Amino acid sequence: MTLPSTVRPPVARTTGLIQSSRMHLGAAYYPEQWPEDRWPTDIRLMREAGLTVARLAEFAWSTLEPAEGEFHLDWLDRAISALASAGIVSVLGTPTAAPPAWLVQQHPDLLAVDENGRRVQFGNRSHYCVTSPELHAATHRIVGAMAERFGSNPHVIGWQLDNEYNRVCTCDRCRGLFQRYLAVKFGSLQALNDHWSTAYWSQTYSAWEQIPLPIGPHNPGLMLEFKRFVTASYCQFQRLQIDVLRPHLRNDVWITHNFMGWFDGLDHYEMTQDLDLAAWDWYIGSGHHDYVTTGAAHDLTRGFKRRNFWLMETQPGHVNWSPINNTLNRGEARAMAWHAVAHGADAVLYWQWRSALGGQEQFHGALVDQSGQPRPFYREVQQLGRDLASVPFLAGSTLSSEVALLNCYDSRWSIQWQRHHRDLDYVEHLLHYYRPLAARNIAADVISADAPLDGYKLVIAPALTILNENRVARLNDFVARGGHLVLTLRTGMRDDYNAWLPSRQPGPLADLAGVQVEEYYALLDPVPVSGEWFDGSSRLWAERLQVQDGAQTRIIARYGASNGWLDGYPAVTARTHGEGEVKKIVCIEDEPDMANLIKLILERKGYDLTIAIGGQAGLEAIRRVKPDLVLLDLMMPDMDGWQVYGQMKADEEMKGIPVIVVTARAESADRGLGLHIAKVKDFIVKPFSPQELLQSLSRINGQVYCVGAYLDDASQQSLLNHIAEAAGVQPVLETPPGVEARKRVTANGQEVFIVINHERAEKSVRLPWPAREHLSNQSIIEGLKLMPYGIAVLTRSA
Ligand code: GLA
Repeated sequence: MTLPSTVRPPVARTTGLIQSSRMHLGAAYYPEQWPEDRWPTDIRLMREAGLTVARLAEFAWSTLEPAEGEFHLDWLDRAISALASAGIVSVLGTPTAAPPAWLVQQHPDLLAVDENGRRVQFGNRSHYCVTSPELHAATHRIVGAMAERFGSNPHVIGWQLDNEYNRVCTCDRCRGLFQRYLAVKFGSLQALNDHWSTAYWSQTYSAWEQIPLPIGPHNPGLMLEFKRFVTASYCQFQRLQIDVLRPHLRNDVWITHNFMGWFDGLDHYEMTQDLDLAAWDWYIGSGHHDYVTTGAAHDLTRGFKRRNFWLMETQPGHVNWSPINNTLNRGEARAMAWHAVAHGADAVLYWQWRSALGGQEQFHGALVDQSGQPRPFYREVQQLGRDLASVPFLAGSTLSSEVALLNCYDSRWSIQWQRHHRDLDYVEHLLHYYRPLAARNIAADVISADAPLDGYKLVIAPALTILNENRVARLNDFVARGGHLVLTLRTGMRDDYNAWLPSRQPGPLADLAGVQVEEYYALLDPVPVSGEWFDGSSRLWAERLQVQDGAQTRIIARYGASNGWLDGYPAVTARTHGEGEVKKIVCIEDEPDMANLIKLILERKGYDLTIAIGGQAGLEAIRRVKPDLVLLDLMMPDMDGWQVYGQMKADEEMKGIPVIVVTARAESADRGLGLHIAKVKDFIVKPFSPQELLQSLSRINGQVYCVGAYLDDASQQSLLNHIAEAAGVQPVLETPPGVEARKRVTANGQEVFIVINHERAEKSVRLPWPAREHLSNQSIIEGLKLMPYGIAVLTRSA
């Protein structure tokens, strides 16, 4: 038995770019459930709906290997070929979520044990124990056979491993492995006992075998390590499959898994490290689509790999597992598909093409009904097929955001286990910051709290309760470079072992924040909060902030009279970091037109500007003027801008003077965006535009906001409006409520605006520029009319 480990050697990856050559529309298709003479009809209907991809085989283990080592793969080969002859490519699933009955009969302890100590039943999927050596051996065999047969098949473009990892097993083997995992991680029982404060309640361990699996509430340190162990176990199982598959695949074939959005069973950043592409399954269940909230789950998935993703499953009208399985309104699913595309999906696949005649999911929606005829919903998919075919330029396009929301599974688990207020929910709190941005069409990335922060203007770290050195260093660095950071309640309470930090909140971020939290309060009733930007209240939670440095830290809002403890104390603060007001600027430039333009803009705003032309002369000019800031164009033909930059940074006299790299040329923007942005610890404007330049100037000072209150929605909107404006963050487009706009940028730099009416009423949008509307093939000047659930795909025209 090998031990799941948190340290993994790097995986062999696809060498091809994971960039879609087309936008895909598809469905999960189970040819094994139907007679082969039906396949041509299905495939014709798929083609007529505009489907371009089918996902196959992810539950087909018993058909592919009906007995140990006896492989029946020909049918799948024929299905792939039949689809391909209609122009439909395939994504193959490894069928490991459904270990077959014969395998379970051979190895009954391959079945997982649930929290009550019972073996789970065969026949409901994901019934395996993820650490089972017999599962691993059988997985090796089936995945190996599929890889050998289909790895080089030109019609298979990608692989999905397993299906929606979710099962947690509590068998004796898992417990033993967990104990060994802890021994490797902590090195000694003494260290483990110290980190977990086991003197409390006589929990001290004197042998590794004494350590239990946490069933229900337990020591917070133990609980966190168990979550990490479960993630490591799944990583190991996933890695086993990747290692078997990868050697057989062409370079441009990707490997993914279909995750479940905000599901909290695993650390998804760990899980996606070894994958080429992130994908997820999106269902509404009861009710209707709330775009302001659900966009966050797309952005979360895009953030796993920080690139576009696949929507591997979505709801074809209705599901079968919700209390009320209502059908989406006509047009709603199309708007949802476009919503996914607007947030970075390169493919939308429905689950499923046709329901099996038997089995647990007979009532689930599908494109084709039990009689084999298209359901009414099929027409909507057909429309989507036409839509996607009419925007080929979207393939390979990407998104970029100026705002990042940090997501941290450790912090999420820690808070969920000890909420202190029953309604304090980590994801809901993150969404409380996401929604005001989304409502204003401000695009945001949801990324790991450990990810690099280069390129963002505003970073929001909701409830980042668990800190480690990396997180603290990145946040400090981000602010030092002029970034705007928002810290919220419960920040900096815990160390990496889920123990209290022996300091007041926000622990090692206190200098950055400019405040400490003297006390936190779970609230029975809302308490008033008011200040410059709003007059409202805090619900659920309130932290009493103590300002550390009055000269640098501004009080944005205070609590009103409530429990006595909070009355009059700061609730929201902003601390400035930086050299202070920028007035004197030296501009090193050798293109007179550009220099004049910059001069015009800056002087109008009251900056004192000196222009120096070319290399050494530039440096001399800076020495003479002693500026607050230097503007430098890196692409000057006659000199090496990097060299000037290097000299400046090495020059004692110039210490601490920030540099803004200004450029009007796309190639230098690339250069800035790529390798060098990490090197230049200043600001980069790319490419130059007067507005961006002014925004960057206003960012010379980093800002750290501390929000101790859980504000009411209107106050939160107002707070975020002010913060976004101060950070120089721009909405994609101004639209009325219910209408969303997002932007994708094509490989050749063209901006494509996707505008979606998420409501059942007609809406109109004022456009700031004349546009071409690609779905209707019209030119639009100023007013864009959107029908209920209407979509427009726009590019700016001159
Ligand atoms: C999940 C599974 C699918 C199917 C759908 C039904 O997402 O991955 O196989 O069961 O749910 O909604």
